[in-house]
Formats: sequence, C-alpha cells, structure tokens
Amino acid sequence: MPARIRTAVFPVAGRGTRFLPATKASPKEMLPVVDKPLIQYAVEEAVAAGATRLVFVTGSSKRAIEDHFDSDPGLEHALASSGKDDLLNTIRNIVPASVACIYIRQGEPLGLGHAVLCARPAVGDEPFFVHLADDLIHADEPVLAQMRDQFNAHGHSVLGVETIPVEQSASYGIVAVETNDAGHHVVRRIVEKPKPADAPSNLAVVGRYLLTPRVFDKLEHTGRGAGGEIQLTDAIADLLNEETVTAWPFSGRRYDCGNKLGYLKATVEYGLRHEELGDGFRDWLRTMSL
Ligand code: UTP
Repeated sequence: MPARIRTAVFPVAGRGTRFLPATKASPKEMLPVVDKPLIQYAVEEAVAAGATRLVFVTGSSKRAIEDHFDSDPGLEHALASSGKDDLLNTIRNIVPASVACIYIRQGEPLGLGHAVLCARPAVGDEPFFVHLADDLIHADEPVLAQMRDQFNAHGHSVLGVETIPVEQSASYGIVAVETNDAGHHVVRRIVEKPKPADAPSNLAVVGRYLLTPRVFDKLEHTGRGAGGEIQLTDAIADLLNEETVTAWPFSGRRYDCGNKLGYLKATVEYGLRHEELGDGFRDWLRTMSL
C-alpha cells in the first residue's frame, strides 16, 4: 500500500511579471478570485486531498501570504465585538488546526525546480504534492485528490496534464505518453517549453504534481534550462531514466490566473457560481453590451 501523501509544496516565489503592475508589491498568489485569494483555493484543494503539512516556498514581497494564514486576534476581536459573526467565521480556521504551515525562503527566483528543491528539508523522504496556485482548476473532485487516487492505484509519480492547442506548446512542459495494459498513461518523454514543431504531443503539464522524493536527488544536479531557469521538468526528465512517471488527464476546468485574460475568465465562472453573488452577477452580465 503506497504511503499517504501528507505534504503539499506551494512554490510562491516567482516574480509574477505577466501580472504587473498588480504584482509589483504584492504576490500574484494573493490576487482574489471573487472573495478568496488564489493561494487559499490552493490550500483548500491540498487539504481536501489529505495534506496536513503545507510548505510555502516564498520570496521577497510575499509576507502577505504568511499573514493570510496566521490568526489575527485584533481583527477577530473587532469583528466579534461588532457582532459580525459571519465575517469572523470566514477568517477563522482558514487552515484547520490540525494542519501545519511551514515557510521556506527561496533567496533568488532561480526557477520552479529550484523552488521545489528548497522545500526538501521540510518534505523529507516521502512522496509529496506540488501545487501552483496560479493554475486554478474548478473540478467536482479536487484535482490533487484525483491524483492521490492514481498514486494509490500504482505507486508512481503523477503529473496533472491537459490537452492544449499545439501552438501554445512553448508555454508548457509537454509530455509524450504511452498507455499500458492497466490503462495508466506512462510518460515516455517530457520537454520544457518546446516550439510547436518540436513538441512531442499536445499534452501539457499544468500546475499539479505528485512526486516521489527521488526527484530531489535529480534537482540537486539540474542545471539551468529553458529561460535560464532551473526547471522541474528537466529533473522529471532525468527521473524517467529510473522510475515510472505517469500522467493524469484530470477532469476539471483550468484557468491560468498568472495571465490577465485567464484570471478574468476565472472571476466570471467563480462569480457566477458564488452562492450569494451568482444570481445578481448573472443578471448584471445579461445587461452588458459594450
Ligand atoms: P511562473 O512560470 O508562473 O513564473 O512560475 P512567475 O515568475 O510566477 O510569473 P511570470 O511568468 O513572471 O509572470 C510558476 C510557479 O512557480 C513559482 C511561481 O511562484 C509560480 O507559482 N516559482 C517560479 C517560484 O516559486 N520560484 C521561481 O524561481 C520561479
């Protein structure tokens, strides 16, 4: 029986340049979609998949993330004494008491692979999730929980993948897979940001990973790759020489909230689905003609 996945790593140390100027002084992971920041959706997904240790790899201008998950006795007191119990409940227990938050600093944003390697001392020698908060996925079953079930079925690393238009391959890690007799999609190749002509398929890795700790050994030796950054994709390519890695075409709708258009689209879906605001928002949208 494979080990339980108890640790989720959230690399949140990127510069977020595609969202400037909003991300000049505050982290993109704190951008709200309706009324919750992206990083809170990320944490809720990981906790729903069973994670009890949340490791945030942070950088400069990321203090707001720590503050968000910390209790704020002054604000709680003010809300309690003015009878605003509903609001009080929204800020209490953002993270359940049984869940630990650990913060690790990435001194310089040298790339996603380097950020994941920074988490090694907190993760230890066990499989773990990696969640990129700017890929927001609306799904009936949280995507990390879907991937945990895959891992429980076969015990190998799992990459969340999605079919993309091949013209966009240079924005993603792209995998070539083969489906084995058990119906698992075994990764044969993985390439970071290939040009469309060099892409091995149109199956892109998006911001969800379940990795075995062996990837840390690979990351220790991974040099700078695409864009001059230390790429997680390159370490996974190395891992393929030793271990089976699988791809999971998750069910759910993904929004790339690291770019402005994706973020706007997410705001519309989450706004329409919002319990209190959805009906009013829908009515207002119908009146819009620009
Ligand atoms: P992105 O590729 O989205 O880069 O990183 P970015 O710097 O955040 O944003 P842009 O491209 O400049 O707009 C993917 C994920 O990896 C994290 C980011 O925070 C994001 O969640 N990351 C990236 C790090 O934690 N450290 C890094 O050195 C690079």
